[in-house]
Amino acid sequence: MKILLIGASGTLGKAVAAELGARHEIVRASRKGADVQVDIAKVDSIRAMFAQVGRVDAVACAAGKVVFAPLSELSQDQFAVGLNDKLMGQVSLVLLGQAQVRDGGSFTLISGVLSRDPIRAGASASMVNGAIDAFVRSAALELPRGLRINSVSPTLFEESAAAYGPFFRGFKPVPVAHAALAFSRSIEGAQTGQTYIVE
Ligand SMILES: NC(=O)c1ccc[n+]([C@@H]2O[C@H](COP(=O)([O-])OP(=O)(O)OC[C@H]3O[C@@H](n4cnc5c(N)ncnc54)[C@H](OP(=O)(O)O)[C@@H]3O)[C@@H](O)[C@H]2O)c1
Repeated sequence: MKILLIGASGTLGKAVAAELGARHEIVRASRKGADVQVDIAKVDSIRAMFAQVGRVDAVACAAGKVVFAPLSELSQDQFAVGLNDKLMGQVSLVLLGQAQVRDGGSFTLISGVLSRDPIRAGASASMVNGAIDAFVRSAALELPRGLRINSVSPTLFEESAAAYGPFFRGFKPVPVAHAALAFSRSIEGAQTGQTYIVE
């Protein structure tokens, strides 16, 4: 398979590339230093990426930004970051990518634990992650030509615990490789409309 992986240089993206790279061709995309440059917060940039990459068998996203801040301090502009980047960025990958994914191919989006298990300062992340999982359930009903779509919803990664651990007291981190396996299930399996919980 030819797999377009957005966010390939990140903690999650590198693990997904390591899991799938031995069996498939990975086209790495991110804002800088990848095979293809893309900013998922910009629709024109996504359009240009698909024009450059051409037909693929799978689109997988391991990117997506949200702002963490106490609810009393979260501004509309800060909410807009998560809506434009992690949520609509990934929705746009599906909207613009439908025509580029071959029959029976797949989309795999990234959400996260906070939709079901909230923390302080996580209101934007919880909202965006829940929306991604809901979008996936619904889009699966309508995608044409046997196209499939799933999301991966991991808890904190062990590899990120030093950076984010203080926000996630009491959560048991998982190796990021476990989240990469969920991408494998989505891309190499047959299911659609699923959210793979990794915790
Ligand atoms: N870390 C965790 O513990 C954890 C747990 C659950 C869920 N998640 C979710 O997993 C996703 C990835 O997290 P991560 O920790 O692996 O992040 P990360 O290490 O910061 O990596 C982010 C990746 O996405 C790319 N990127 C960032 N903004 C982009 C944009 N606007 N357009 C295209 N590419 C972009 C980055 O490369 P460039 O800078 O070159 O663009 C990089 O390749 C996020 O959505 C996060 O919420 C993370």
